Amino acid sequence: MENLMEKIISLSKRRGFVFPTSEIYGGFSGFYDFGPLGVLLKENIKKEWRKAVVFSHDEIVEIDSAIIQNPKTWKASGHLDGFVVEIRECQKCHRRFRVDHLEDDKCPVCQGNLGQPSFFNEMFETYVGAKKDSSAIAYLRPETAQGIFLNFKNVLNTFPKELPFGIAQIGKAFRNEVSPENFIFRIREFEQMELEYFVEPKKSEEYHQKWIEERFKWYLDIGLKKENLKIFEVPKEDLAHYSKRTVEIHYNYPFLKNFGELEGMANRTDFDLKTHSKFSKVDLSLFEPKSRKRFFPYIIEPSVGIERIFLALLLDAYSEEELNSGEKRVVLKFLPKMAPIKLAVFPLLRNKPALVEKAREVYSLLKDNFLVAWDDNDNIGKRYRRQDEIGTPWCVTIDFETLENGTVTLRDRDTTKQTRHLPQEIIKIVKEKIK
Ligand code: GAP
Repeated sequence: MENLMEKIISLSKRRGFVFPTSEIYGGFSGFYDFGPLGVLLKENIKKEWRKAVVFSHDEIVEIDSAIIQNPKTWKASGHLDGFVVEIRECQKCHRRFRVDHLEDDKCPVCQGNLGQPSFFNEMFETYVGAKKDSSAIAYLRPETAQGIFLNFKNVLNTFPKELPFGIAQIGKAFRNEVSPENFIFRIREFEQMELEYFVEPKKSEEYHQKWIEERFKWYLDIGLKKENLKIFEVPKEDLAHYSKRTVEIHYNYPFLKNFGELEGMANRTDFDLKTHSKFSKVDLSLFEPKSRKRFFPYIIEPSVGIERIFLALLLDAYSEEELNSGEKRVVLKFLPKMAPIKLAVFPLLRNKPALVEKAREVYSLLKDNFLVAWDDNDNIGKRYRRQDEIGTPWCVTIDFETLENGTVTLRDRDTTKQTRHLPQEIIKIVKEKIK
């Protein structure tokens, strides 16, 4: 579809999914705000992730660590020395570019000459406390993972577990990306969902494979099309310093030549627990009573940014159609469980008090069970179009027949077919479909 990204960006703003941040001051590159529907879609992504990664595994718990950790964390993790990108600055316009994003030796914007490569650390710095000198420098976390490693002992002490076990976390991460790009694909403030799964070293490859398969299946379960997903084996020479093997799930983002990273799944070995033991002088090894051995578990880490899933869901769901009536519509075909709003309730006519009163009654009954919208503006056709465009799976209309026998119409977003039901039956139907 031509200009799909432009259409998604425009719909996102018009309907309240995503807004450019600080827009009244001209925006701020690499930062976005999430509107009312965006918040709901993000919540559904988190809910499905928690269901699959945390709640369905007895051996996995979740934490919420601070965004700003003791700065020694980042020395030990390797981020202070290694979280760098190679950049070159244009001598003419002074824009800076990542070397790995450059296609030739000239500035891609003004064709000026590029200067010598240098290194740039992508961590955001801040100061903690009342003194702004070098001793007060701290960092906004560039990944949530480190907060999990620092709490390894605390969690073990409160939730004693045998290997394998996992600690999960959802939270904001910050990277001072040199060139934020492609809407919410590469941004400077984003939200990660990470799992650190601790295993016996000799079983790490087996569990790595298991998580690769489980995570791939999750994307199908939340409604992404299989043909838009791909497994990518990261070449040895591109592996992060801590990784023995990394496999990524790639999505067919339209702005990339050949798919792009959605989620990464690394075998981090025992790098993290060892390095934090060394730097903190607190032993983070584990004593296993069965084998009577002390060792550092290996870590399998599925890690993803919510915004990348958010964008993939919008791209996959977006569709333009012509109805039998000849009318054109834009529809977001989210799976019902992912749709921000599950049902919309309409009185057929807003100037008939009996219809409005009955519709309010139905609205309040459904609202006790689901996220429901009320709309009594314009004609029914326009109301359907508005709900289609935000992916609401069902619309309920209260008409004159409702006043006679209590049944309402239930209109299906995808087929546009209408059936009649009592409101109580609708609760059952919808509950079954959003499981
Ligand atoms: N703890 C491992 C880690 O952070 P990563 O590959 O750097 O690994 C994991 O990041 C995931 O976070 C990526 O697969 C991507 O989904 C998301 N991510 C990373 N940088 C991002 C950015 N600048 N904007 C949006 N999402 C990003």
